[in-house]
Amino acid sequence: MLKGKKILLGITGSIAAYKTATLVRVLTKAGADVRVVLTPSALSFVTPLTLSTLSKHPVHSAYVENEETGEWANHVELGKWADLMVIAPCSANTLSKLVSGECDNLLMAVYLSATCPIMIAPAMDLDMSDHWTTQQNIDTLKEKQVHVLPFGEGELASGLTGKGRMQEPEEICDAITDHFDPRSKLKGKRILITAGPTYEAIDPVRFIGNHSSGKMGFSLAQAAADRGADVHLVAGPTHLQHDPLVQRYDVVSAKDMFEKVTLLFQEADVLIMSAAVADYRPASIADKKLKKESADLASIALEKTEDILAHCGSNKTKQLLVGFALETDHELVHAQRKLENKNLDLLVLNSLRDEGAGFGTDTNKVTFVFPDQVKEGVLKLKTEVAGDILDEIERML
Ligand code: CTP
Repeated sequence: MLKGKKILLGITGSIAAYKTATLVRVLTKAGADVRVVLTPSALSFVTPLTLSTLSKHPVHSAYVENEETGEWANHVELGKWADLMVIAPCSANTLSKLVSGECDNLLMAVYLSATCPIMIAPAMDLDMSDHWTTQQNIDTLKEKQVHVLPFGEGELASGLTGKGRMQEPEEICDAITDHFDPRSKLKGKRILITAGPTYEAIDPVRFIGNHSSGKMGFSLAQAAADRGADVHLVAGPTHLQHDPLVQRYDVVSAKDMFEKVTLLFQEADVLIMSAAVADYRPASIADKKLKKESADLASIALEKTEDILAHCGSNKTKQLLVGFALETDHELVHAQRKLENKNLDLLVLNSLRDEGAGFGTDTNKVTFVFPDQVKEGVLKLKTEVAGDILDEIERML
């Protein structure tokens, strides 16, 4: 999993340092190239010999490695070498220095020279981990994009029990693996997406349809598959191609779509109804082509189609429901009403008043309407809008 990844492990003075031998072992076993830098106080807890044997590289703890030869541990080179610098365990003292920038040892010099992402696994005693200065330092580091792993809980070296332990080596290794290959929350989730128009037959050659191209739904299916979701796409008539990883079901009418979606819905984690489903269909379909003189073509009696989304909304158990709405006036009022009536978690609103939004175009401008908030978007490619919608779904999951 970590083949070829260059990981610089910084070890500080905490009793949890004894676990770093296992951490180095786990990381090298996963294929990582590991180099180790220790603070002077870490040397009281773990020996350089153990770590150099496990990492198969000399470890560094002082600016001058060899007093006789005057060999210099190049902190800049080490800092630039790494793909990721992991400080584990990170003591309260080092945590504070990471914020202040105090540079009184090799580890701090490497940290200040590093241009790669930084991850830390703090370890300290119960009250130290709870102290407001620790919490403030953690918040500052998070703001600066340092990946701070949470404290582990359990028995502490002091005999107290609670928060403060370093994450286990295997957990740190998982976090490092996630860093290089972020696992989307959609991974393995079953996402049911509908796309395109529906065609409602009048007779064997005519139908009532709409201009939906299916681009939004197909973009969503592609983006969800890229994030590792198990994607099931129910598509109305369209010429669009789908990703081989997507399971596609072609349907024609609203009734076909209703049947397919309600069947697949039970097993789904998320339903995204981006199809432009016809609201009405001819009450009866002529079995022969109607002649233009025939009175039946002058006016066609219509009946309502099944509202697929409303049906799923009133039968949802665990599923997250996302609907679309295209409005021309009083957009937000209509959207909020639909969100509530159909029991949705998110309604993606398009306004036909926005140029470049809606049917057929490659772009879209949407507003996200949630039960408790509204987020306005800007004009983007449909592929980008698909990513935004999935980000919101991930957030809700
Ligand atoms: N939808 C559905 N089944 C239908 C009609 C629409 O599942 N028979 C879904 C669409 O896929 C979309 C949302 O419901 O996600 C649109 O809501 P809807 O109230 O039907 O919008 P409009 O058709 O625009 O309704 P209105 O004419 O009332 O504005």
